[in-house]
Amino acid sequence: MVLVGPPGSGKSTVGAVLAERLGTTLRDTDTDIEQGAGRAIPDIFVEDGEAHFRALEAAAVRAALSGHDGVVSLGGGAVLDAGTRALLAPLPVVFLQVALPDAIRRVGLDSARPLLAVNPRQQWRALMEARLPLYEEVASTVIDTEGLTPEEVAQAIVDAM
Ligand code: S3P
Repeated sequence: MVLVGPPGSGKSTVGAVLAERLGTTLRDTDTDIEQGAGRAIPDIFVEDGEAHFRALEAAAVRAALSGHDGVVSLGGGAVLDAGTRALLAPLPVVFLQVALPDAIRRVGLDSARPLLAVNPRQQWRALMEARLPLYEEVASTVIDTEGLTPEEVAQAIVDAM
């Protein structure tokens, strides 16, 4: 089971609840990248650039999908990579849909997302415009998270399985 969606859609929080409910574990590619590189994501963006981050991300996704049969949460931009989208095609993939106010409320709680560091509302809208077709392309299930708690979203995913 793979979770995709934009920053602020609750992938990590929902993923943890869902994994517990399913009696399995959560693997989060952002965490894998940071552990592998020994650096925080904003530092990778600043020091090496986004293209380098995307290459690390594609490799981390490939490793997570082949080495873990629990819940895998992907960074919001992972679907930009065509190879990743091909890997996701046969898998159960849940797109967590979220509207801007909820997403901004969540990402506003921390500033660890380099792409949203300045003008987060405008940036988030632009990201979504570019990525919505990609999330829809890879998703086998779409969950509208509007007004739902992480527990309710996890339950909606279980119900949809
Ligand atoms: C990114 C989303 C982040 C992280 C990186 C880039 C993006 O993950 O991978 O900052 O391009 O949307 P979350 O979706 O968990 O915030």
